[in-house]
Amino acid sequence: MKTLHVELGDRRYPIYIGPGLLDRPDLLHPSIPSRQVLIVTNTTVAPLYLERARAALAGLRHETVVLPDGEQYKTLETVNEIFTALLNNRFDRNCTLVALGGGVIGDMAGFAAACYQRGVHFVQIPTTLLAQVDSSVGGKTGVNHPLGKNMIGAFHQPRCVLADTDTLTTLPDRELGAGLAEVIKYGLIRDLPFLEWLEANVERLLARDAAALTEAIERSCRNKAEIVAADERETGERALLNLGHTFGHAIETGVGYGGWLHGEAVATGMYLAADLSARLGPLTHEQVKRVRALLDRAHLPLHSPPELTSDDFLRLMAVDKKVKDGRLRLILLRELGRAVIAEEISLQLLRETLEANRKSGKAD
Ligand code: NAD
Ligand code: GLY
Repeated sequence: MKTLHVELGDRRYPIYIGPGLLDRPDLLHPSIPSRQVLIVTNTTVAPLYLERARAALAGLRHETVVLPDGEQYKTLETVNEIFTALLNNRFDRNCTLVALGGGVIGDMAGFAAACYQRGVHFVQIPTTLLAQVDSSVGGKTGVNHPLGKNMIGAFHQPRCVLADTDTLTTLPDRELGAGLAEVIKYGLIRDLPFLEWLEANVERLLARDAAALTEAIERSCRNKAEIVAADERETGERALLNLGHTFGHAIETGVGYGGWLHGEAVATGMYLAADLSARLGPLTHEQVKRVRALLDRAHLPLHSPPELTSDDFLRLMAVDKKVKDGRLRLILLRELGRAVIAEEISLQLLRETLEANRKSGKAD
């Protein structure tokens, strides 16, 4: 097992990464300062892992709420089901919510924990690759609004993250690929050696080689933990984690939540960001080809959906949270392994990027 820490002073917390961790109550219990625990999971994950999570919580009063599965249910209405379960069980402000599932469950359980009685304890047990490398770490929680992805939310840090890599064995291939998009993101924004390692090992990851997955998760979490410790509230460096996300959120909102997986939309978004970076310079077209080759080898989509016009994109991007004072900010690449926040984007070059890459299917 590997243990990393998110260094946030008195809110410092551990990330445990390794096989069999769901069967380690000794890791979970020190992070749960209460006797009342609500496990938040969904209809897909519950039959797979709920019993083991319950066994790990033996000795505590634990109740469960099982939510519908899907990005389309990442709403205030669904979060209200969590509040109802908490109130039905008369849980007090010292209770703990345990998120057992992917990023959708983690974001909603975390948001409920941030709001219930103005804030209760929270533990993450992420069961998708995407959640193990990104969404469970760093305290961003929230839900979607029909007009914009993740627009309602709060920062609320967990007390620990327990990433049992064995849970990835039941993950569908498409979900594994979507998680790889966020892994590749760390290489692109700040870690060239990791990017090179991914170029050498992407097929091992797709084949679910346990050692390769553990290394990818650890290196991803190390990057994320460093960024969150330096900039918890996204006043600076943390924004770099949004590489490809302004484009990606426009795709997710534009095609309807659940149509494209989040990681798939981010992959296309990162490719669009790389393309635009080369149009603006100094990223070279050769470097864009490297980005494209890696995403393609991970079987991730590179082109935006045909039904989204450039005008749709620009309208949808304008409501993304990365818009500041009415000006579009995008995360772009200066070089591989180095992302920057770009404030003054040429609308013409942005349109050119969107037009050039708007078609369905894989890279030609
Ligand atoms: P998800 O939560 O929808 O999970 C993907 C699918 O896999 C679901 O059907 C889920 O039920 C299923 N699943 C989960 N674990 C499984 C397992 N072990 N075996 C089999 N099936 C399993 O999607 P995701 O990709 O985990 O997360 C995407 C969400 O995360 C998006 O809503 C995105 O906005 C959010 N996100 C948040 C942050 C953050 O910092 N908070 C960062 C990145 C993404
Ligand atoms: N996934 C973006 C962030 O955590 O800031």
